[in-house]
Amino acid sequence: MDQQIGDVVIPERAIRNRVAEMGDEILNAFGEPAEGITIVSVLAGSIVFLSDLIRQLPTKMRLGIVSVTSYPGRATSSKGAILETWKLPDLRNCHVLIVDDIVESGGTLRLVLDEIKKSAPRSVKTAVLLRKIAKAPKDLPIDFVGFDIDDAFVVGYGLDFDGYYRNLPYIATISATHGA
Ligand code: IMP
Ligand code: MG
Repeated sequence: MDQQIGDVVIPERAIRNRVAEMGDEILNAFGEPAEGITIVSVLAGSIVFLSDLIRQLPTKMRLGIVSVTSYPGRATSSKGAILETWKLPDLRNCHVLIVDDIVESGGTLRLVLDEIKKSAPRSVKTAVLLRKIAKAPKDLPIDFVGFDIDDAFVVGYGLDFDGYYRNLPYIATISATHGA
């Protein structure tokens, strides 16, 4: 069984416009703290979003990375979030912004949020490009959401299936095809 790119869910231009708006929303919410913002990127899905978003944030900042796996290999349903990598500066008394690609069950973001709160930051906010609105838990606080989308497995703009398709400049569904 192979996968093919299906419908475009969010075109490139719409992503670009919304990411610029999100940059403004984030700057307004944080103000300009003297110590800057510490951005925590959840790898690997957030890298394309992250790299566009931080160039819309002309403010003092540093970057840290964590990686969490929940869709090993060719899985298209979450197998539960597991923390893999944790490379962060000291977060005590810092203003932290967690950046991830997509929220489905919320398990990934909740795991990262809980871990970061243990480091006693001054504030923590969260930004995701996509949220699957039917599945995302109502009690999970997300401060900045790019787009609410329907419940379908999507790829592109950093999101992968089995490691592929991260380089698509738009967000699309994938569809299974059975060989001839
Ligand atoms: P959650 O922990 O269930 O909220 O899932 C979040 C993580 O699963 C995201 O950080 C993505 O890496 C991955 N994920 C969830 N839905 C999709 C999807 O539709 N396409 C690709 N990756 C996804
Ligand atoms: Mg992810």
